[in-house]
Amino acid sequence: MISSKDTEKMIKKGIILAGGAGTRMSPLTKAVNKQLLPIYDKPLIFYPLSILMLSKIKNILIIVNKGQINHYKKLIPNGKNLGLNITYKEQDKPRGLPDAFILGEKFIGKDDVAMILGDNFFYGQGLSENLKKCIKLKSGAKIFLHKVTNPQSFGVAKVDKRNKILKIVEKPKKYISNLAVTGLYFFDNNVVKYAKSLKPSKRNELEIIDLLNIYKKKNKLSAEYIGRGGAWLDTGTLEDYYKTSTFVYAVQNRQGLKIACLEEIALLNKWINKNYVKKQIKFYGNCSYSNYLKRIIKSSV
Ligand code: DAU
Repeated sequence: MISSKDTEKMIKKGIILAGGAGTRMSPLTKAVNKQLLPIYDKPLIFYPLSILMLSKIKNILIIVNKGQINHYKKLIPNGKNLGLNITYKEQDKPRGLPDAFILGEKFIGKDDVAMILGDNFFYGQGLSENLKKCIKLKSGAKIFLHKVTNPQSFGVAKVDKRNKILKIVEKPKKYISNLAVTGLYFFDNNVVKYAKSLKPSKRNELEIIDLLNIYKKKNKLSAEYIGRGGAWLDTGTLEDYYKTSTFVYAVQNRQGLKIACLEEIALLNKWINKNYVKKQIKFYGNCSYSNYLKRIIKSSV
């Protein structure tokens, strides 16, 4: 049970960075942003959004490419039917991940903030409990690490036996560790100030690793793990897309439960009642997702 005293200390705001050119997936991404493409039976954006909702974060800023707000609004107008307060902001060009905190300065205000990349997929046992721990961050920054076989494709962290982060590098050419830094981050309010102090890298982007290194230098960076029972998939390439879709298909059809059903999470969080779910069924129309929502309404008390 969460007491009101606990709630005061929690991170209550989250950003989904859902822009990017998606060039590796062209021509699919020429007319549609990659985060609106399907992962099996839902648009990709549902998955990172569900992670913020499982973290009990209701105030969400979605950063999208210039000219694409209306595309997203067709799918998620303002979050009201999900018990959320969703706002949108445009990024006119991909300036790098920390740009989210510069664009989001007004949204963040004096609060702490979580950020998830729009193309990151998380699933696993104990994840919700882990997320609830992360939003209690008192100060500093927290990252999620996960073992991978291709660390050269990600930000990578080297940690000692006591879980202290020794080194953190973006896409290292030389092996330093197999622990990838996933696209889910929790920051204290200093993140805005630190993001503004960053200089663009050689590839002319603000780098998330440079931001994390500011926290690390101050001994303010800590790590959580997804663990062996969990999955983290970055849907950067076409192959990743199909792998993730297949994963969702396999889990859902085995269990008969959907991953990232936003209305189900909102109901569980007690943010909405059945009437809101009915409105969503009307909104989605006659489809398997709506049929699942009808089942949820019937089975919930
Ligand atoms: O997925 C985890 C990895 O994400 C981390 O391990 C790396 O440290 C981090 O740099 C990032 O690497 P990627 O190469 O995967 O980042 P990418 O440029 O693909 O961007 C990730 C998402 O953020 C993608 O959905 C597009 C969006 N994005 C990216 C940039 C640079 C924006 O919306 N705006 C941007 O300016």
